[in-house]
Amino acid sequence: MKKLLLLLIIFSITSCKTKVNTATPSAKKTGLIAEKAMVVSARKEASDIGLAVLKKGGNAFDAMIATEMALAVVYPYAGNLGGGGFMVYRKADGQTGTLDYREKAPLLSTKDMYQDENGEVISHLSKVGGMAVGVPGTVAGIFAVHEKFGSMPMAEILEPVIALARNGYVVTANQEASLGRYRENFVRVNRDSIFYSKNFAEGDTIRNLALARTLERIAENGRDEFYNGPTGEKIIAYLQRHGGIMSLQDLREYQSFWRDPIHVKYNNLNVISMAPPSSGGIVLGQILKMIEGFPLEKYGHNSVEMIQVMTEAERRAYADRSFYLGDPDFVDIPVEVLLSDKYLNGRMDNFSFSKATPSSEMEHGAITAKESMETTHYSIVDQFGNAVAATTTLNGAYGSKLYVEELGFFLNNEMDDFSAKPGVPNMFGLIGAEANSIAPGKKMLSSMTPTIVEKKGKLWLVLGSPGGSTIITSVLQTILNVEEYNMSMQEAVDAPRFHHQWLPDEILFEPNAFAPDVLNTLRIKGYHINEGESTIIGKVDAIRVLPDGKLEGGADRRGDDTAAGF
Ligand code: GLY
Repeated sequence: MKKLLLLLIIFSITSCKTKVNTATPSAKKTGLIAEKAMVVSARKEASDIGLAVLKKGGNAFDAMIATEMALAVVYPYAGNLGGGGFMVYRKADGQTGTLDYREKAPLLSTKDMYQDENGEVISHLSKVGGMAVGVPGTVAGIFAVHEKFGSMPMAEILEPVIALARNGYVVTANQEASLGRYRENFVRVNRDSIFYSKNFAEGDTIRNLALARTLERIAENGRDEFYNGPTGEKIIAYLQRHGGIMSLQDLREYQSFWRDPIHVKYNNLNVISMAPPSSGGIVLGQILKMIEGFPLEKYGHNSVEMIQVMTEAERRAYADRSFYLGDPDFVDIPVEVLLSDKYLNGRMDNFSFSKATPSSEMEHGAITAKESMETTHYSIVDQFGNAVAATTTLNGAYGSKLYVEELGFFLNNEMDDFSAKPGVPNMFGLIGAEANSIAPGKKMLSSMTPTIVEKKGKLWLVLGSPGGSTIITSVLQTILNVEEYNMSMQEAVDAPRFHHQWLPDEILFEPNAFAPDVLNTLRIKGYHINEGESTIIGKVDAIRVLPDGKLEGGADRRGDDTAAGF
């Protein structure tokens, strides 16, 4: 009898799992619903501050500045003053655009700066310490946004952020674990203990007075405080004591750029995403165009056929990424060809459902990089109908681990996003080529994919994710979960994800979330399955405009992410 009961339990668990992973879920579990405005970010404090700015009458761009800076206070893991990012926007009147505030290589950089005399890559140089740091763009980014679209004085926007740094924020369990993981690294790289190497435990309050003072000076003195003033001088002095090659000239010459977005049609959707130096928009667009003709809904969510079609399209798009993409101010990128129907239809010609296409037989198309998990994304829709999707990063967790004690923030290790040597993988296993080689003043290729989706010409989704090379496929799956599988925003963000990036030739799956028979069938067809090493794939923060005009938040269950709205 006991045996029978056990068998019944095992059967019901297995069949439940299969159902969850292959059937089209009904849109039941929703995220926060708001009438007019919403901010979704990696931390409640940052979402609340962004929302408070909106409540005061500010617009999505004022809220972007507040949220970006609040993340620098409460989420030093990825939020930053010492890093960079990208913003995609859609104004209420339908006008779209993007801001590139990506870091760039210092003027003294050289193509082989991370290679020894035998041409071997010295991997740690681009990941930790002074040599890893690219010229930061975030402060330039918020001032560019403010100048073009801001409606409130900068000092007023920054006031609650400064108060947050001064009054403190409460450490979460995730944050305690992450600070603990890197404590020894902080001390080693900085050659001393730093503010964040203290033993902070869940429930403790962190007051970062040095950062409060830095933000106060920026509020008072403007962009120049960072790029041509005392804050910049302190950054350079600290970097030069730690083997860095960045100079004041690098800071003075830094510019952010307004760039045209990538627009891609998929069914009745218009997907608006980031152009190079991010690979996000082009790769996302290529995958969407390659899978458009396949009946994904009919295959079922996370079914063998759906995973095959998406994997094969991802394999082909990432092969192109690694050959063709880099900083558009340094290399010619055949954007139109890469996104054309003619080119993309041909790319899937050799795909067959009967077996995997080995990546060794799949190169870039005949007309062919690199990145970190530790980025952060936030999405905003304001009460006027403007939308902002912004992804910002230090690259690795806490960037280069270099922390300027006097200023209260970490410096990025974005230089690892360059290809240190063609063919040698970076920290995400991404392979780069000449297009993403290092040059003075050049921007390193990114995977950040802040994205806005219109449905039938109207604002529909605002989304993005951290996750290095997995950012693009996380954004892709979230869009498809809503469009093809009728999920709510929250369900779409929470659903288990998988990822393929050409090389290494394997499908990465979130562990214990996919039906064993699906994985076995894929193995039989020649796919390499990696379920063991993956922890999470992406951490999506998204907003959906519902048919009645209300907003639904999708705050990823994988972190401390929170939606706030009114
Ligand atoms: N550093 C992560 C990215 O830019 O893709």
